[in-house]
Amino acid sequence: MENNVCSVCGKEKESRLIPYINKVMYIDCQCETELKKKIETEKREKAINTYIRKRIKKSGVLLREENAFFDNLIVDENNSKAVDGAKYICSLMLNGDTSQDKNGLILSGNRGSGKTYIGASIINEYNRNEKFNEYVINEIIKAHDNGFIEDLGIEINSNCRFIKEKDAIALSEKYNYRENTSPIDEFKNAKILVVDDVGSSYGDSKRIMSILFDLFDYRYSQQLSTIITTNLSKEELHAYLGERTFDRLRCCCHYIKLASPTSRRK
Ligand SMILES: Nc1ncnc2c1ncn2[C@@H]1O[C@H](COP(=O)(O)OP(=O)(O)OP(=O)(O)O)[C@@H](O)[C@H]1O
Ligand SMILES: [Mg+2]
Ligand SMILES: [Zn+2]
Repeated sequence: MENNVCSVCGKEKESRLIPYINKVMYIDCQCETELKKKIETEKREKAINTYIRKRIKKSGVLLREENAFFDNLIVDENNSKAVDGAKYICSLMLNGDTSQDKNGLILSGNRGSGKTYIGASIINEYNRNEKFNEYVINEIIKAHDNGFIEDLGIEINSNCRFIKEKDAIALSEKYNYRENTSPIDEFKNAKILVVDDVGSSYGDSKRIMSILFDLFDYRYSQQLSTIITTNLSKEELHAYLGERTFDRLRCCCHYIKLASPTSRRK
């Protein structure tokens, strides 16, 4: 196409003669400039969406919960305290507010009351709102331009982790003695950690208690935010975790009971 007409409106472009080299330059029509800007903005938005999605995946949030965000949670009298608690913790962490002794939650309630969903929404929302790295955004835009949608060739990390209690226990038992590391370490050190379904593990209860003590005691002493979900009542949780662990959690978590809706939310 002739580059002396606007590709959008078809009008002839303004031209300017550059002296000495005796060349004519065409000046972009306003609508072409706007179109370019619009394309740039769309690319950036798409890259940021990918960025958020990758962060959420990296956090370990499961498919069922990956679309749980504060603005699409159904809120009613059964869960409103839990939703408020979730928003409060998320904003504490996003603002880097370390002034509060309690920066975590114990979400307790019956099956299907929405504990896992609300727990995951804290991670999703944090991942959506935490500052983005401009370098990473540009790398994602480049990957998209080259036709790579999923395989970006760049590692995207997240400061949050979601894990089922059972998996946390299994990972804690794997230990690399040579490197002095365990696969649980990245969960232990996450800025926000959701441990889902606390109280659901069977087996050697002394071993389970000791693993959970290590995890929660570490997080307590590092002032990291821990959210646990459980089907157990306060008394049952106390008995299951034991005095020492329960005490740590009591110091750093707000206890919130969710009432049971009549059926699972759809
Ligand atoms: N606030 C909400 N808004 C929209 N959907 C929700 C909400 N809470 C829960 N749900 C939906 O209900 C389903 C069940 O909730 P969820 O799995 O979080 O319950 P739970 O309390 O963790 O149950 P369990 O004790 O069985 O683990 C979720 O998969 C989700 O689809
Ligand atoms: Mg659950
Ligand atoms: Zn034009």
